[in-house]
Amino acid sequence: MATPDRYAVIGHPVAHSKSPAIHSAFAAQTGQNLSYERLLSPLDGFAATVRTFIEQGGKGLNVTLPFKVEAHALADSLTPRARCAGAVNTLKITDGHILGDNTDGAGLVTDIERNAGVMLSGKRILLLGAGGAARGAILPLLEARPAALTIANRTPEKAAVLAREFAPFSAAIEASAFGILHGRFDIVINATSASLGNELPPVPAAIFGAETLAYDMMYGKQPTVFMKFAQQQGAAIRDGLGMLVEQAAESFYLWRGIRPETAGIFAELRAAVE
Ligand code: ATR
Repeated sequence: MATPDRYAVIGHPVAHSKSPAIHSAFAAQTGQNLSYERLLSPLDGFAATVRTFIEQGGKGLNVTLPFKVEAHALADSLTPRARCAGAVNTLKITDGHILGDNTDGAGLVTDIERNAGVMLSGKRILLLGAGGAARGAILPLLEARPAALTIANRTPEKAAVLAREFAPFSAAIEASAFGILHGRFDIVINATSASLGNELPPVPAAIFGAETLAYDMMYGKQPTVFMKFAQQQGAAIRDGLGMLVEQAAESFYLWRGIRPETAGIFAELRAAVE
């Protein structure tokens, strides 16, 4: 058999990454001859580590914390969604050329639309947060043609900057502070890092209703405080495990031109998390 094409996830730390399990499952399922490993990069040696990987014949990388912005700078060319995100989670190497992509937002949209069965077209969406995670989601969310996309952030000025920046793509985008949010939303996406510290973004309870899907980009054994709060208001809830799997599927598609099935590995990871 030919030597497998080499892929890896690069980060610091990287030992916790589920990407090797996900991509190995995708490769087995689609019959692709590839290897996928973990690559620990020194904090001050990201570019050098990538260059060495390329010299050794590496074909692609997933990029995780804290290197997503550095990967954006390192890429020779960028997909439109990576350019808008200002961050790169996927590198594809072709004859020494480095293409940077960002599949996080597409993974989010696929998980909501296909896996949760909630179409975004014509809906009122609220995106909480204005950091890297929120920014990466905006273009794919707008491309799904919601009636409105409201960005709300603890520091409202940052939400306003994002809304201005993305206004040329859609008239549906607007900015808000948490306290002045009013009316129900169809979908509320928590892209803040509040769940990491077991905190709840201080949003009014009335933004949630029985028809709302409350989505947290984080995932874990237990529902996050945001998910619990939304559920108390009658909302349906979903965590970010599906987004993790779908962003990986989108990277796999960019590299190999084949879209893997995601349900099997999602169920395996869910069982492992619990
Ligand atoms: P990431 O890359 O995960 O988006 P980030 O760029 O550091 O991380 O952004 C963190 C986001 O979470 C910000 O929107 C931050 O709000 P501020 O801009 O006001 O700092 C938000 N955030 C973090 N902790 C929060 C909390 N306890 N409540 C509400 N928002 C919080």
